[in-house]
This record gives sequence, C-alpha cells and structure tokens, in this order.
Amino acid sequence: MDYKKNILCIGAGYVGGPTMAMIAYKCPQYKVTLVDINSQRIEAWNSDQLPIFEPGLDSIVKTCKGKNLFFSTNIESEIKKNDIIFVAVNTPTKDYGVGAGMAADLQYFEKTARQIVACAETSKIIIEKSTLPVKSAQVLERILEASDSNVQFDVLSNPEFLAEGTAMNDLENPDRVLIGSRETEAGIRARNELVEIYANWVPKDRIITSNIWSSELSKLIANAFLAQRVSSINAVSALCEVTRADVTEVANAVGMDSRIGSKFLQASVGFGGSCFKKDILNLVYICRSYGLNEPADYWEQVIKINQYQQDRFVFSMIRSMFNTLAGRKICLFGAAFKANTDDTRESPAISIAKRLVEEKAHVVVTDPRALNNFEKNLIDYPIEYEDDPYIAANAAHAIGIITEWDIYKSLDYEKIYRSMVKPAFIFDGRNIIDRQHLFKIGFNVFAIGKPELTHYK
Ligand code: NAD
Ligand code: UGA
Repeated sequence: MDYKKNILCIGAGYVGGPTMAMIAYKCPQYKVTLVDINSQRIEAWNSDQLPIFEPGLDSIVKTCKGKNLFFSTNIESEIKKNDIIFVAVNTPTKDYGVGAGMAADLQYFEKTARQIVACAETSKIIIEKSTLPVKSAQVLERILEASDSNVQFDVLSNPEFLAEGTAMNDLENPDRVLIGSRETEAGIRARNELVEIYANWVPKDRIITSNIWSSELSKLIANAFLAQRVSSINAVSALCEVTRADVTEVANAVGMDSRIGSKFLQASVGFGGSCFKKDILNLVYICRSYGLNEPADYWEQVIKINQYQQDRFVFSMIRSMFNTLAGRKICLFGAAFKANTDDTRESPAISIAKRLVEEKAHVVVTDPRALNNFEKNLIDYPIEYEDDPYIAANAAHAIGIITEWDIYKSLDYEKIYRSMVKPAFIFDGRNIIDRQHLFKIGFNVFAIGKPELTHYK
C-alpha cells in the first residue's frame, strides 16, 4: 500500500507508544513505525498484552496495528526507509560523572543521533520528542552535520505534554501542540511538515510555533510550574495540620480566583512520576551552569518540599503510632505514582515503603495495576505484595493510602476495620476517604492537611 507519509519513532515507551498510536489512528493515510532497542517491549507491542497500561490505548493500537502502525527492532533499516523521525528515547537523570544526580543523561539520545547519521541515505526531519535540556538541538545538529554525506537534516523540537493515565485524551484534545524550529527557510519548511501532521485532528490555533530554544525550554518550565503548584499546596498542608485549617477548603478558596485556577492544587503525599523531579533537577543544573544560582535555588526548593512531604507522611505514622513501627503490619494502598497507570517511577510509595522497612515494620503493598513494576524497585526489601486490598489489610495495624485509585474510595471500610488490629489507624495521603465516616467506624484518621481525628482520651 502507498502511504502519504512514512513516520518513524525511535523509542517505544510511555511517550513514543501512545503518541504514535494517536498519529496512526488520526491519520490512516500515513504509515507509522515504532522501533526500540528493547526487543521484549517490541514483542509486547506486537502481542495482545501491551507493555504499558494506559486507558484507551489498547483499542487504538488494535485498530491500527498491522494496517498503518508497526513495531520493529530493526532500527537501522527503518531509519533508511523513513524521512520523518521522532526521537522519544528516555532522558533520565545522570547517575555518574559530571552532573551526577542533576543533569539529564543524554547517552541514549546521542546514540540515536549517531545511528541516524550512520544510516541515513536521504534527507530527514528529526523531531525531538524526548524532554531535553535547552540547547540540545544544537548538539544534535552538530552530530548530524559531522557526517560526510550530502544528506540534509532539519531538527525540530516538539515536546510532549501528555500526562500518564489521561494520555489518550491529552493526545486527542491537547491544550496545545508546540513546535520549535530554526527560523531559516529549511527550518520553516520542516516545521510546516509537522504542522500538517497534527492538523489532521488538532485545531490550527492550538498548534503553536516558536523558536527552537523557546520550545525546548517551555517543556522544562511547564513541568516546573506544575510541580511547583503541588509543592506549594503541600507546603500549605503542613501548616493546615498544625493550625486545624483544612487544606481542601484553603485550596478551594484560593483556586476559585480565576487568576490562580483550581487545577493541580490537590495536596498529596508528594508528586512522583518519571519527569517532574528529573526535569526540575535538570533545570536547576542548567541555571547553575550559567551562574544563575538564585533561580537554581528557587526551583530546587520545589524538590525539597516534595521530599519533605514524603518524610512527613512517615513521621506522622511513627508519631501517632506511639513512636515505634517495629513489628507493626502496615498496608500501603497504591504503588503507582498516580491513579490509572502501572508506572511506579519515582512513586512516593517507593520511598515510603523503604522508610517503613527501615523502621522494621512489616510492609504489605497492594495495587490494581502496578505491583509488577513496583517489585522491581524494591528487590532487596522484605515486602509482601497482595492484589486484594481486603487480604492486604487483614490483621494490619495501619493503612496508608498512597495512590488515589477509585477502588480505594469505595471499599467496605467497616469490614476492613473489623479485620485489623486495634487501635486501627488510617493515613490518607490523597484525601480520598470520608474521614468522619471512617472515624465513626472506629479508625484513628490522619489525612494530609486536615485536622486529625483520634479516639484518644
Ligand atoms: P520510556 O523509558 O518509557 O521509553 C523510552 C524508550 O526508549 C525505551 O523503551 C528504551 O528502550 C528506548 N530506547 C533507549 N535508547 C534507545 C535507542 N538508542 N534506540 C532505540 N530505542 C531506545 O520513557 P518515556 O516515559 O516514554 O519518556 C521518553 C521521553 O519523553 C523522556 O525524555 C521523558 O522525559 C519524556 N516525556 C515523558 C512523559 C511521560 O509521561 N512518561 C511525558 C512527556 C515527556
Ligand atoms: C506530568 C505533566 O502533567 C505532563 O504535562 C508532562 O508531559 C509529564 O509530566 C512529563 O513530562 O512526563 P505525569 O507525571 O504523567 O505528567 O502526571 P501528573 O498528572 O502531572 O502527576 C504528577 C504527580 O503529581 C503525580 O504523582 C500526581 O499524583 C501528583 N499531583 C498532581 C498531586 O500530588 N497533586 C495535584 O494536584 C496534581
């Protein structure tokens, strides 16, 4: 079959998979191919058991797979065949050498660039889909230009703003699609090619273009602003607890100001996910590398408050459970970093479970989707895993709610209470339970940013 465009994406993970599935779905006239070095992942994409869980993804992949959506490990030959190439490889925090613990590790990105140069026989548009430090396009261009061939490369920045759990809706109805390019004739021509792809389903006024550095930087700043709101409300939650104010009421009153807005003001046990922390650390590193120490300190504080919030959750358990958790059974409801995903990267559940084990507690973790991924993070920790929340909570001294899965809102907490050791404690890290109801059942109830409800005399 003849396709109007052939599109390749290198990196078939949480971003590459859903974004390319959406392009294939919305543009049946294009052929979309995903490649990855991880052959197990590609095998899973080619099977009925997709490698990632994302609501709505399954049916879209089923519709397109084998028609105009393909998955392969044959990276070199696909680079040869495709002239529009998205790069969506991972860019984690560097854990070695200069910038360790702060800078983005660009080894996967760079390797991809070199592979493209080595294989390309015709001109290509290379699109940065991964989140990268500002000025990465320059690095990419320098690698691409070092080739002896006459092949022309145009580099675009097209950062992805999807959130996990809502990725398919975010992709179908994005607030905006951002495309950064060089302002040369060739740059603008390449940019128009990409605009044409998105214009198949995204209204033109939501496709915005900018210079390439603004585009790269906007991605880091969008994540920094989102994370900053969570840290702001979490900092407020600590003050609410000691003053007996209620963080939900404060967030509601503050968020109704249309200049502030109500989204991302949900106090929590802390933000997780693969990107907020890494992207802010990267932003801090970039600021410092330009000698901008005050802006660096400012953004670093967002991360510090997030760690403080996770620590506070464990301290609250220790303090309220009579200053020792040794030998106590503590059940964590939720391992995913947010609801509706199986992703556990940087999940607060990881640091909390580790801390509880260090306190010699007997930790049981339950989650409807994420236990397999979670276990991999905690191989050396003696943690028990249980799919059924009722069994997990049986004979526990305390429950900690870490992920806001819907099922935890509607469990039979009377039944759970009866099966637990008394006094029974519940620590709601997501403010999803009816505190008064659980208090009436008999629980001692602690919730983020809320007055505690205890049965102590
Ligand atoms: P991921 O780890 O799920 O996927 C990346 C994939 O790239 C992996 O499957 C890996 O095997 C593959 N890969 C690495 N090197 C490769 C190479 N040389 N050749 C071929 N494949 C290679 O990561 P992700 O969550 O999809 O994130 C990818 C990028 O998108 C990151 O820069 C991230 O910051 C950004 N991002 C992520 C999200 C999100 O919600 N996860 C949202 C927006 C942006
Ligand atoms: C986030 C951004 O929302 C996306 O726009 C971005 O593309 C993505 O990072 C990325 O670059 O990877 P994601 O991490 O998938 O998406 O999920 P979010 O919904 O942003 O949640 C992040 C964390 O903040 C979660 O742990 C969530 O529970 C927490 N959160 C969020 C709160 O604690 N309170 C809130 O009010 C909102």
